[in-house]
Amino acid sequence: MAEPVILGIETSCDETAAALVTADRRILAAPIAAQLDLHAPYGGVVPEIAARAHVERLDLLIEAAMRQAGLGFRDLAAVAATAGPGLIGGLMVGLVTAKTLCLVHRLPLIAINHLEGHALTARLTDDVNFPYLLLLVSGGHCQLLIVEDVGRYRRLGTTIDDALGEAFDKVAKMLGLGYPGGPAVERLAREGDPARFAFPRPLLGQPGCHFSFSGLKTAVRQAVLRLGPAAIEPQNLADLCASFQEAAADSLAERTANAIDVFRERHPLGDTLVVAGGVAANARICERLENLAAGQGMRLVAPPLPLCGDNAVMIAWAGQERLALGHDDPLDTPARARWPLDPGAEPAIGAGVKA
Ligand code: KG4
Ligand code: ZN
Repeated sequence: MAEPVILGIETSCDETAAALVTADRRILAAPIAAQLDLHAPYGGVVPEIAARAHVERLDLLIEAAMRQAGLGFRDLAAVAATAGPGLIGGLMVGLVTAKTLCLVHRLPLIAINHLEGHALTARLTDDVNFPYLLLLVSGGHCQLLIVEDVGRYRRLGTTIDDALGEAFDKVAKMLGLGYPGGPAVERLAREGDPARFAFPRPLLGQPGCHFSFSGLKTAVRQAVLRLGPAAIEPQNLADLCASFQEAAADSLAERTANAIDVFRERHPLGDTLVVAGGVAANARICERLENLAAGQGMRLVAPPLPLCGDNAVMIAWAGQERLALGHDDPLDTPARARWPLDPGAEPAIGAGVKA
């Protein structure tokens, strides 16, 4: 019998994506439309513009995916769509599209938590077994979680202010590097001296697994102000980027080391650290995490680049994991701007905590 195929839909932020993934881990199609050009003039994602672009592009992407795979809707086992967390307008576009397809073609709907999509990607790409420790670092999230099973996540830490991708984006903006900032900062950092500026390592030496990046971002701003017009000289830019990236990597590695201790206490045989989310594309950060994992007798699993950032493959795969357990969702399932993976998680101290 042919393996079940699931159509995945992702519209939670500024990527419109559709994907067809089989239960035996084959990606049949994964067209994606980024919206960088639309948001670049504003230096960040504008929710209304994002939602409108999803409306204009999603059906064409789904059509392209079906055509590429040579499938009709009756060949599908289910439709999985991101239902949260994210920008509510975009989420509604993806979820309503999925519901319509399900209604018309009598297919089960699977409403996916976007973070669960990131969390389970390593099981698609590397067949990782539960439990594992997950560092989720993206533009909207910076969390350490123990992934115990599908739907069972224990959050050990989150950010008390900015997500790391957001800090990369804000630093890039203050240096005039455009949006999104992560790749630009990483590129310049390669030519820079990571020791030139002594930026703070937020929360260094403090117990726990929470993160904070706003102090680091402020320190970069102060250094830029001190340099004045010289800040945009190529070597200064490169040194600022390298020093910022190094401080961020140090902070990430130190907080993750604390999380490894907690993980090992609960799961002494656990041996896998997974990194996911857009910032996982950063080679220097992955290198630091790899060294950390190796020093603790663990292996690091990082998804391939196209699956680090937002995509619909991870949504289709999370759908496969849920379908295999017999889960589906009613057609009146709402989109949710906030949807924590671990609702019982201890809140991070301070204001502006990301769920
Ligand atoms: O997972 P993602 O595509 O979207 C969210 O769910 O947020 O992550 C996007 C974030 C952006 O903040 C972007 O600047 C960051 O990931 N990012 C990077 C790199 N590539 C993307 N940050 C650091 N280094 C990179 N190479
Ligand atoms: Zn994401």
